[in-house]
Amino acid sequence: MLEAVKVGVLGLGTVGSGAASILSRNADEIARRAGRGIQISVACVRDTKKPRACDISNVVLTEDANQVVCSTDIDIVLELMGGTEKARELVLKAIDHGKHVVTANKALIAYHGNEIFQRAQEKGVSVAFEAAVAGGIPIIKALREGLAANSIEWLAGIINGTGNFILTEMGDRGRDFGAALKDAQQLGYAEADPTFDIQGTDAAHKLTILASVAFGVPLQLEKVYTEGIAEITAKDVSYAAELGYRIKHLGIAKRTAQGLELRVHPALIPQRRLIANVDGVMNAVVVKADALGPSLYYGPGAGAEPTGSAVVADLVDVVRALTSDPENRVPHLAFQPDALSDIPVLSMDDVSTAYYLRIHVLDRPGVLADVTRIFAVHTISIEAIIQKEPQSDLASVPIVILTHQVNEQNMKCAISEIEELETVTGEVMRIRLETLS
Ligand code: NAP
Ligand code: HSE
Repeated sequence: MLEAVKVGVLGLGTVGSGAASILSRNADEIARRAGRGIQISVACVRDTKKPRACDISNVVLTEDANQVVCSTDIDIVLELMGGTEKARELVLKAIDHGKHVVTANKALIAYHGNEIFQRAQEKGVSVAFEAAVAGGIPIIKALREGLAANSIEWLAGIINGTGNFILTEMGDRGRDFGAALKDAQQLGYAEADPTFDIQGTDAAHKLTILASVAFGVPLQLEKVYTEGIAEITAKDVSYAAELGYRIKHLGIAKRTAQGLELRVHPALIPQRRLIANVDGVMNAVVVKADALGPSLYYGPGAGAEPTGSAVVADLVDVVRALTSDPENRVPHLAFQPDALSDIPVLSMDDVSTAYYLRIHVLDRPGVLADVTRIFAVHTISIEAIIQKEPQSDLASVPIVILTHQVNEQNMKCAISEIEELETVTGEVMRIRLETLS
């Protein structure tokens, strides 16, 4: 067998330690797959004195990233430190020094992927990023290679493990938001800045990447409509359940005749859909492709070894292709770089979905007639309506309405008119509803 390939690592935290542990535990099996051994020889961290969750006896630890990215001794750099600007600088430097790169950093790819892939192509090296989306699930490989025959129609995914963990803990175990988030942080699921998980930023980074490999478009993070989960209440979770739905935080990319929809927001999904039953840190992505039809990819979306699994799989791919002609490698964004499409991305106002609305009204005759008159003006058709029991501490009663599909702009106008009714108290809660059929 050939000599082991030497790898340098930027970051030996949750994911870095997970990848390092897998590489040493499964060394023989990995060498049989890759055709040669893979060995981490140097790792850059912020603090070399900090204890590590992996065996570092054969690894040189440094606080100088140049010892990794400029080393003449290593062929592949693992970027597992996170962040965007420093990571961009180091990844570009590594590429300029002829290193292949494997990263788990979705923010880096979503913000700077177009530049990084172009530079990698010029230098004839690969940048692999399977671990950046949906943790351990090989969804990038599935879209880029397994579904290469298909035209992708849409995909919808639960692509943030922390958010799904929090929603599950709140819904199933009645835990409060803060305690569930704390657990997700302790388990190593959350981002360094957990608002990225809660506000949908992390899911938007991942959706940007998924949309590019699904539709062959450049990475366009700035065009993703993004809403988080912080507004979802336990009442909405329970009203949705009564109506046969579960609330999940989804990333959706859809091709329509007018353009692409790219959106991240909470959504009601029928309980009978498999994806509605994806709980805890698990992620899942449904892909609707023209030839295959629907397929579902499910697995752990975060954590040391699940994410490390995707990092090491990328490493094996890169090692197998070390001697291949760069022009004949799988393109970074699945489509040839000179064949990317400029299909426009739609504004959220031009998107149509069904809706769940929770409206608090005074319990008086004629109130519903006022609401339905506004719906009629904005061509909103009602699918179901229920009036809930009055809440003891409020003078109002909640009405829950499911609508048929309507354009977002129409719904926005209707909601603002409903909120102005003298008989309506407080803001209208609206959550989009996706049948995923
Ligand atoms: P983490 O536990 O905070 O680890 C980050 C590592 O990078 C630490 O070892 C840290 O050093 C090092 N580091 C940070 N900034 C550095 C700098 N400027 N110079 C040198 N070293 C630096 O983070 P993580 O959870 O492993 O996440 C790493 C990346 O994977 C992120 O891009 C994240 O989005 C992505 N990701 C994470 C998961 C997950 O489940 N955690 C899943 C998928 C993708 P010290 O240890 O000395 O502080
Ligand atoms: N913070 C991310 C999540 C890590 O919870 O999904 C995996 O990308």
